Amino acid sequence: MKSPLFLSLALVSFGTAYPDILAHLNNVESNGKAVKRQAPGVTPPFDPSLQYVDTTGQYAFVAPGEGDQRGPCPGLNAMANHGYLPHNGVATISEFIEGTGKVFGMGVDLSTFLAIYGSVFDGDLTGWSIGGPTSLVSLGGLLGEPQGISGSHNKYEGDASPTRGDLYQYGNDYLVQLSQFQALYDLGKAADNYDLDLLTDYRATRFQESIDNNPYFFNAPFSGVAAQPAAWSFIYRFMANKSAEYPEGRLTGDVLKSFYSITGEDGDFTYTPGHERIPDNWYTRHPVDAYTIPYFSLDAVAQLVKYPEFGSIGGNTGTTNSFVGIDPSNLTSGVYSASNLAEGNNLLCYALELTTQETPDLLSGLFTDISAAQDQIGSALNNATNSLGCPQLNSINKDQFSQFPGYTQAYDGYTDPTSGGLL
Ligand code: HEM
Repeated sequence: MKSPLFLSLALVSFGTAYPDILAHLNNVESNGKAVKRQAPGVTPPFDPSLQYVDTTGQYAFVAPGEGDQRGPCPGLNAMANHGYLPHNGVATISEFIEGTGKVFGMGVDLSTFLAIYGSVFDGDLTGWSIGGPTSLVSLGGLLGEPQGISGSHNKYEGDASPTRGDLYQYGNDYLVQLSQFQALYDLGKAADNYDLDLLTDYRATRFQESIDNNPYFFNAPFSGVAAQPAAWSFIYRFMANKSAEYPEGRLTGDVLKSFYSITGEDGDFTYTPGHERIPDNWYTRHPVDAYTIPYFSLDAVAQLVKYPEFGSIGGNTGTTNSFVGIDPSNLTSGVYSASNLAEGNNLLCYALELTTQETPDLLSGLFTDISAAQDQIGSALNNATNSLGCPQLNSINKDQFSQFPGYTQAYDGYTDPTSGGLL
């Protein structure tokens, strides 16, 4: 995608950009004025002129065509369909940061971390595909073709997703399973309202469904404990339409359908892969209320407090209903425990620090020389754990993962005979 020279320049500029990114956590510019970022949970202001998201002209919906990449993330798919990311579905780290801020009000700290993570594990260190592999992403030094986020099972993409099926249950992890969408839709249709409580309850249902139906279900440190709660909180925090009446947002069935590329009537829905749309007349988060890593940490803990099983790293052992959870104390030599995971930012700290420990193993399958990738992901992880004030973890007892076939069974390549180059 980019030359090695560009790559080293990009690394330098990201390294020096971090102090600015951290400053962003406290202050933000609104209408040309520096204003203080407000604390999570405080009712945000509503300013239609700042929050309107344009879906006309250069931002009008254009369906993906041959070779365009679309994948498991409805937010990124919708952005590519509306020209807020490149239409081919391959973007650079800075394009992801800019686009997610503009369309959804994602905090720069969170988008930088998520975009760098994708570039290291699913891309070429400068960018990545929001779907599967493509010739647009390749770089010398990679052991194989970058798989995009569709092919990143257990690294980015995980089981028990809201609407996407489990990989080893359905053979793909990026398409909406209509039964899952319909079940979600049914929960909120009487009140026409999909809030965090409802989503957290449905997350518990989906978690149990994976235990009941997927012999290889694995709740991995990153994709399970960090990315999974994000997938659920993002539905409300990002898709909900903000207004003077609902400054924090209200998510109705129609808006949910639009972002999930669902058409038709209740009970007879049609899903068109890759056609996710930003609704017309839709308003995003206020700039002082960007969704940052500490904000997300609070939401992830709220989910855990309601359903403690969400923090359980582990999985089925080759048959359905055989879930074994690893005791956090055994894994981390007592730094984290089942009883302290819900304290402060411990849940995210636990997931991110385990990811740091796993990184060399994960990278050794991807790069001939892992040093540049390790530096890039290492500083992104450190920035995130520093901003959360995490206790230090120096080693983990990794052997315990080997009992889970969902962990050891390496994903053997991206194949989808039915969708051509589209997804
Ligand atoms: C750079 C930023 C982002 C990255 C790297 C990213 C990546 C991903 C990945 C890998 C998944 C699959 C996770 C799984 O297996 O459940 C996912 C799912 C999801 N993402 Fe994103 N995403 C980003 C931004 C967004 C934004 C801005 C939204 C706004 C709505 C969003 C909404 C979602 C939702 C709702 C899901 C769950 C899909 C489902 O199963 O129903 N994401 N994302």
